[in-house]
Amino acid sequence: MRLLLFSLLAAAVEPVLSRALPPSNHVAHEKRGYTGSGRWVKRDRVAQHLKVPVRIGLKQNKEALEKAQTWLLEVSHPQSKKYGQHWTQDEVIEAFQPTTDAVDQVKQWISEAAGVATHRITHTDNKAWLAFDAKVEELEALVHAEYHEHHDESSGRAVISCVSQFNIDRLSDQYHVPKHISEHIDYITPGVKGIHVHSSDLRKRSWKAGHHGGHGGPFGGQPPKRRPAPMMPKNSTELATCDIAITPACIQALYDFKPLSPYAKVSPNNSMGIFEEGDFYAQQDLNSFFTNFTSYIPNGTHPTLDSIDGGEAPVNTSDAGGESNLDFMLSIPIIYPQRTTLYQTDDLNYADGGIGSTGGIFNTFLDAIDGSYCTYSAYGETGNDPVLDPTYPDPNGYQGQLMCGVYKPTSVISISYGEQEQDLPAYYQERQCNEFLKLGLQGTSIFVASGDTGVGGLAGDGTANGCLRNGTVFSPTQPNSCPWLTNVGATKVYPGRTVFEPESAVVDPAGHPYRSAFSSGGGFSNIFPIPDYQADAIATYFADYNPPYPYYFDGQYNSTGLYNRNGRGIPDVAANGDNIAVYLEGNFTLEGGTSASSPIFAALVNRINEERIKERKGSVGFINPVLYQHPEVLNDIVNGTNPGCGTDGFSCAPGWDPVTGLGTPNYPKMLNLFLSLP
Ligand SMILES: *[C@@H]1O[C@H](CO)[C@@H](O)[C@H](O)[C@H]1NC(C)=O
Ligand SMILES: *[C@@H]1O[C@H](CO)[C@@H](O)[C@H](O)[C@H]1NC(C)=O
Ligand SMILES: *[C@@H]1O[C@H](CO)[C@@H](O)[C@H](O)[C@H]1NC(C)=O
Ligand SMILES: *[C@@H]1O[C@H](CO)[C@@H](O)[C@H](O)[C@H]1NC(C)=O
Ligand SMILES: *[C@@H]1O[C@H](CO)[C@@H](O)[C@H](O)[C@H]1NC(C)=O
Ligand SMILES: *[C@@H]1O[C@H](CO)[C@@H](O)[C@H](O)[C@H]1NC(C)=O
Ligand SMILES: *[C@@H]1O[C@H](CO)[C@@H](O)[C@H](O)[C@H]1NC(C)=O
Ligand SMILES: *[C@@H]1O[C@H](CO)[C@@H](O)[C@H](O)[C@H]1NC(C)=O
Ligand SMILES: *[C@@H]1O[C@H](CO)[C@@H](O)[C@H](O)[C@H]1NC(C)=O
Repeated sequence: MRLLLFSLLAAAVEPVLSRALPPSNHVAHEKRGYTGSGRWVKRDRVAQHLKVPVRIGLKQNKEALEKAQTWLLEVSHPQSKKYGQHWTQDEVIEAFQPTTDAVDQVKQWISEAAGVATHRITHTDNKAWLAFDAKVEELEALVHAEYHEHHDESSGRAVISCVSQFNIDRLSDQYHVPKHISEHIDYITPGVKGIHVHSSDLRKRSWKAGHHGGHGGPFGGQPPKRRPAPMMPKNSTELATCDIAITPACIQALYDFKPLSPYAKVSPNNSMGIFEEGDFYAQQDLNSFFTNFTSYIPNGTHPTLDSIDGGEAPVNTSDAGGESNLDFMLSIPIIYPQRTTLYQTDDLNYADGGIGSTGGIFNTFLDAIDGSYCTYSAYGETGNDPVLDPTYPDPNGYQGQLMCGVYKPTSVISISYGEQEQDLPAYYQERQCNEFLKLGLQGTSIFVASGDTGVGGLAGDGTANGCLRNGTVFSPTQPNSCPWLTNVGATKVYPGRTVFEPESAVVDPAGHPYRSAFSSGGGFSNIFPIPDYQADAIATYFADYNPPYPYYFDGQYNSTGLYNRNGRGIPDVAANGDNIAVYLEGNFTLEGGTSASSPIFAALVNRINEERIKERKGSVGFINPVLYQHPEVLNDIVNGTNPGCGTDGFSCAPGWDPVTGLGTPNYPKMLNLFLSLP
């Protein structure tokens, strides 16, 4: 509100226009509505001689975006003739790139309108951007706008971005390009979207304490729930105590598999990837766990570190994190002697939720495993978001350049981090989701924990209870709502039950014994529609077990209803996620969370890939279309709910449900099915 008044005042005292209006064949390509950017305050005009990196995002092939879902199904649907015929990265780049004609027209415009010789213009490797350095005066002439510093008072971050030179529309800043160019470009930075500047030409950035809005981190903004153990099981192969503590032996019994021989010959390339950010494992804790709970994992076993943008691990025992320790204590006993790869992302300035933290998540990770993502244009965003994502080099941390394409993605990746859909702009999530689709096309399976707050969000996120509108509407999790990854909900062996009986959805509404309520994340996206492969399962759920709540359509939750009736359903599958035995900071303890469920499921798929490698077959890639066609390879979970937003949430039911999805793994059946596919 203050900003709006400020701008109107500024406009009112501006002299009569001294410059010509943009030529009549130009259109305003992008506008900034002031209501949407209240944080940023306009300051001085940027010096005309300052050189800035200009990036012009080229619209990606429209046809490709429309066809992408079909392409993914072609390689991942069990009835498809092309099942398993994954694409190479070059094929993906080729399919999504803009046409040559479009590129040539844009280049010609730059050279004619700004006097930037074509040899100064680089076409990036992934074909998505034209890049050149220009003086601010050249850029202003190109896009018919002025460039000013903009400052974010809460974080001290500064960007330069454009403001309109003309009183065409007092309420928005905008820049202009010829109409025939406008259809070929996504957007220009700096433009309405600013670029960060570390130049001494600008004010020094000042960093204030007080972290705003960053929800990135293990679910709940905290590591998995943790509580003191009543006792440590004395016998690591005993199954009678699995209702008290889940050990590797309990997981083997639940999902019907045995550990591999520690001497088994395994493919050195079939490593299981695990994403971590701001949470770190301690080797001594891993050693204690393997020594006390397995007979086959040597002391000192550890993941291979793929450090991203300054991420480091391991840490000393006193600094160990509940998420990282949990992930490796669950996955390594399932897959050993197969390897694990740790994607430790972002320097401490950004990763620890402190001063430098931004609100975004996953983009720097995706950059590191797919260089083309660094400059990828989609849904109005090219490359990382200058406000939501970390920028490198980081004057307060990692001094290197943003890492692009430095690691080959593993065939299986487990992620136990996320936010709520409402925390990030839709375009940010859509662009990221498209990248998950491309990874699926290339044969990577991505598993994500579905969240620990049931149908709701984290208390205090938006409303007091973390729910939408007036605190009553269900809040879906992110990135889970993306249809091109596999979401894993949490199940539990209730007290007095055994691993030979069906599990139930995990639910602990009272927050005992944990400090806060824990309920398995599930529901329906407000952004992404129901994907084809899931349509029948959701229709059956609504037909046979209609939830007792009013609903709305197309994500429009502004008037009535509690959940979106035509959104992508979450989760897809489930696995145990409560009372997990771990060592943390030197002590035995128990943890709970869907954080546990994701690495369990992912590890079993890593083993399936190994068996397929032996038969000279490729990785399974995106597995949802196969699982929805063959729910019989999962243990259907029919008991339990996922409360949130003052309701009981949804209920488990025979078949798919938005609590535990299709169910937990039956390893022998899953293995047979995937081995039967080409
Ligand atoms: C541990 O439990 C297993 C399974 O109940 C049992 O066969 C074994 O004898 C037990 N070992 C010890 C040392 O008690
Ligand atoms: C592992 O990957 C490397 C590089 O991609 C390749 O050269 C090698 O043949 C692979 N090894 C196996 C056993 O697949
Ligand atoms: C667990 O293993 C560690 C060795 O890494 C050992 O020092 C510790 O005593 C064991 N704890 C128990 C309760 O057996
Ligand atoms: C296990 O390995 C660590 C190094 O990772 C070493 O410090 C420790 O002494 C080893 N413990 C045993 C029981 O071998
Ligand atoms: C671990 O502790 C030692 C001794 O206190 C210290 O020198 C070292 O920097 C610490 N390492 C990490 C990664 O924090
Ligand atoms: C929330 O809004 C709905 C629809 O406008 C209304 O029916 C309901 O009473 C409101 N609930 C609360 C707690 O304000
Ligand atoms: C809800 O909001 C959207 C856009 O914000 C609008 O298009 C739609 O008409 C609104 N729906 C209702 C029922 O008010
Ligand atoms: C670990 O256990 C020791 C001994 O019981 C205790 O003093 C210490 O506070 C515990 N550490 C943590 C982090 O719980
Ligand atoms: C069903 O789930 C509830 C919690 O929702 C639990 O209390 C109960 O023990 C479960 N029943 C069985 C048979 O596991």
